Amino acid sequence: MPSKKYDLVIANGRVIDPALGFGKEAHVFVKDGKIAKIEKESASITREMKSLSDEQFIDATGKLVVPGLIDIHVHLREPGREDEETVESGCRAAASGGFTSLCCMPNTTPCIDNQETVKFVQDRAKNADARVYVIGAITKGRLGVELSEIGDLVNMGAVGITDDGTYLQDAQVMRHALEYAKMFDIPVMQHAEDSQLCDGAIMNESYESTRLGLRGAPPVAEEIAVQRDISLCRLTGGRLHIQHISTRAGVDAVRRAKAEGINVTCEVTPHHLILTDDEIGKAFNTNLRVNPPIRSEADREAVVEGLIDGTIDCIASDHAPHSEEEKDCEFDKAPPGMIGLETSLGLIKTYIIDKGYLSWADAIAKMTVNPARILGLPGGTMAIDSPADIVIINPDKKWTVRADKFRSLSKNSPYIGWKLNARVEKTILGGRIVYEV
Ligand code: DOR
Repeated sequence: MPSKKYDLVIANGRVIDPALGFGKEAHVFVKDGKIAKIEKESASITREMKSLSDEQFIDATGKLVVPGLIDIHVHLREPGREDEETVESGCRAAASGGFTSLCCMPNTTPCIDNQETVKFVQDRAKNADARVYVIGAITKGRLGVELSEIGDLVNMGAVGITDDGTYLQDAQVMRHALEYAKMFDIPVMQHAEDSQLCDGAIMNESYESTRLGLRGAPPVAEEIAVQRDISLCRLTGGRLHIQHISTRAGVDAVRRAKAEGINVTCEVTPHHLILTDDEIGKAFNTNLRVNPPIRSEADREAVVEGLIDGTIDCIASDHAPHSEEEKDCEFDKAPPGMIGLETSLGLIKTYIIDKGYLSWADAIAKMTVNPARILGLPGGTMAIDSPADIVIINPDKKWTVRADKFRSLSKNSPYIGWKLNARVEKTILGGRIVYEV
């Protein structure tokens, strides 16, 4: 009788695990929801050789086998806007994008600023298709005035804090947030856009915003916000994480701070790596309206440089679902945000890897081990005994982004109709297949 030594074997794939410095053909063995071993023998194995049933054996010849991706910037909209996304639908979207872990933002209704709301989201995520880690609000109601009970949030399982959607404008409150967060060894994640400079802004302040007559958010609003928080981080010895960085000056400030040894990390979205503000006037596609706004070509080039030289630690989608009714309006009336979980990997392959900016291994590091380290999350590697969170990628499969194929409840993507060059084949969460094409 065939022994059931393993629950799942993924054979003959190119295994890339940047955390292990591993990148070659190998077989991955899963037992009891964990990685049991990675066998490096070059000879291929077949189902028969290992006495495995069809379900237990995946032939990954020609495919990449990498740790489940981690997205540390996702809006799940629950509680409050279950018409736009739920924990369940967001996790289904994550699985089809190759993500097995995500961090959800607290700008829900009500806001995630206490233990009950953290627990509510965690409960919703119990049987979901991805692991959900909650980010709590820095301030009560995200109003920027009074700190949330940060210890309570952490005790309930929050892994970081942010007032994302708005900048925490009060420097004194931010200073205290960094001091408290330091006691619990969590980062303060900042949406770094000075609110006063960006008041009423619709797009990047540039020649284009003038031409279109739309109020602009100046890049200096990010520079000022990033620099102030780096100074407060230096002062407090806390940990600062800059969310969705988008400008040359912002990247330069982080680069200098890192060289000085300040504890700062940052993320970039695929849209800030790929899109520029001259797209807006072409069709006034409201899905191009995001905060921070898509910038000029010079800023786009600078974030790509920052990604390459390691100033930017990780890639995060800022998946921000909005309903069709809300987005089907004039550009300046639309709420900011675009969905991203289901297109991130394909975009990064097509516009970052295929252009020679990053190798597969470096791109995977920025979507696995690096975000895991920033927030102290389990996973991000296929080391022995790690959770068997794995994604199998067809690295050359061309596909077209289609609205009717999104698993997200919202369809607000500017990439509909785009052709991308890599596709998730299967996503495995704790040894269970949660997505396959
Ligand atoms: O574009 C954005 N949308 N930026 C944010 O910071 C918030 C997000 C949202 O919640 O829709």
